[in-house]
Amino acid sequence: MPESRNAGLFARAQRSIPGGVNSPVRAFRAVGGTPRFIERAQGAYLWDADGKRYIDYIGSWGPMILGHGHPAVLEAVHKAVADGLSFGAPTEREIELAETILQLVPSAEQVRLVSSGTEAAMSALRLARGATGRSKIVKFEGCYHGHADALLVKAGSGLATFGHPTSAGVPPEVVRDTLVLPYNDVAALETTFDLHGPGIACVMIEPIAGNMNFVRAGVPFMQRLRELCTRHGALLVFDEVMTGFRVALGGAQSLYAAAIPGFAPDLSVFGKVIGGGMPLAAFAGPRSVMEQLAPLGPVYQAGTLSGNPVATACGLATLREIRKPGFFDALARTTRTLTDGLLCAAHEAGVPMAGDCEGGMFGFFFAAKLPHDYPGVMATDQQRFNRFFHAMLDHGIYLAPALYEAGFVSAAHTPADLEATLGAARGALEA
Ligand SMILES: Cc1ncc(COP(=O)(O)O)c(C=O)c1O
Repeated sequence: MPESRNAGLFARAQRSIPGGVNSPVRAFRAVGGTPRFIERAQGAYLWDADGKRYIDYIGSWGPMILGHGHPAVLEAVHKAVADGLSFGAPTEREIELAETILQLVPSAEQVRLVSSGTEAAMSALRLARGATGRSKIVKFEGCYHGHADALLVKAGSGLATFGHPTSAGVPPEVVRDTLVLPYNDVAALETTFDLHGPGIACVMIEPIAGNMNFVRAGVPFMQRLRELCTRHGALLVFDEVMTGFRVALGGAQSLYAAAIPGFAPDLSVFGKVIGGGMPLAAFAGPRSVMEQLAPLGPVYQAGTLSGNPVATACGLATLREIRKPGFFDALARTTRTLTDGLLCAAHEAGVPMAGDCEGGMFGFFFAAKLPHDYPGVMATDQQRFNRFFHAMLDHGIYLAPALYEAGFVSAAHTPADLEATLGAARGALEA
């Protein structure tokens, strides 16, 4: 049998690029096997270096909500490219994008554009510390906010103790002020605020955690978190890099606002969908806080490519499409059909599976019940997930290569794509 081009490229990539990839999860370490080298994409499909077609449920890890190569997005990008790739000076399109984000996110009065979710989360953290004059931050086990030093932290040995770095190269001093709490645990929150309240600058949370598959923060937990932040003068920072413009037009915060009267986060962090596949992210909040940023205030933050004209054109064109009436209803229906179909197939096969979805984001677990925190996710059946993943990949279904990643559906997924996916799943569940 001739060697697959994917395998050949992977071997070659490993000689010049650490691990052969430019972001670790792409290396398939969690599931084993050879990553697919992608040559092109269109609509709901990807084609790898061996010419094999896949139905794509990763969508570049979230941005491709319209599917690949949407004509309106491509047209906007082509036009922008012809006018210049980067100016390092303000443009009208940045204002348009800022205004669009602010219309869609009522909790925010001003927004700053950056180039990656990591940069946005890191900047929001600095802003929260600068605006409050406090140092301590709280995050939750299983939530990922990019790879800034202070956020690469795992829980300490006891409740409300400070965390340990999860990466070499992060000095313990840098995470000395980062507290890591279990997700969805009201008692841990209350203890932490009792012990450290006056020193806490902010609490950062993925409101629907997509970096431990798909786990929602419960409404009573979120309500208590909001109350405690307000009472102690800490900022509540919603990391909506994944959920923003993805689970609903107004992001996850619009769902909590519908469930909790008067609810709003203080700061919000966006990425993925707002760039439509180009490097673009943002953080946003009330004018009083955002005006602490340079050049108006003392909190420094900057970027050579921030608000890049091609990226803003791509993001604007994407947001224009998802604002069209009925877009999210249709997307949510597609995602629900897929999720329900997977659960039904598992039930018929006698395989325990739980799943959940919102808007265009979904998750499923090989477990009888939905987990509500990180240990619960990691206790689900990893080996069965890995077998299922590989069987699906063989059938041309491209799922995230790790059980702790969420899945994404796009507007380009058709009923026939879903049927093909569920047909493959019925076979894969036997694996
Ligand atoms: C919730 C969340 N925050 C932040 C980030 C970091 O974004 P980026 O990879 O663009 O740096 C991610 C990336 O997946 C994310 O899911």
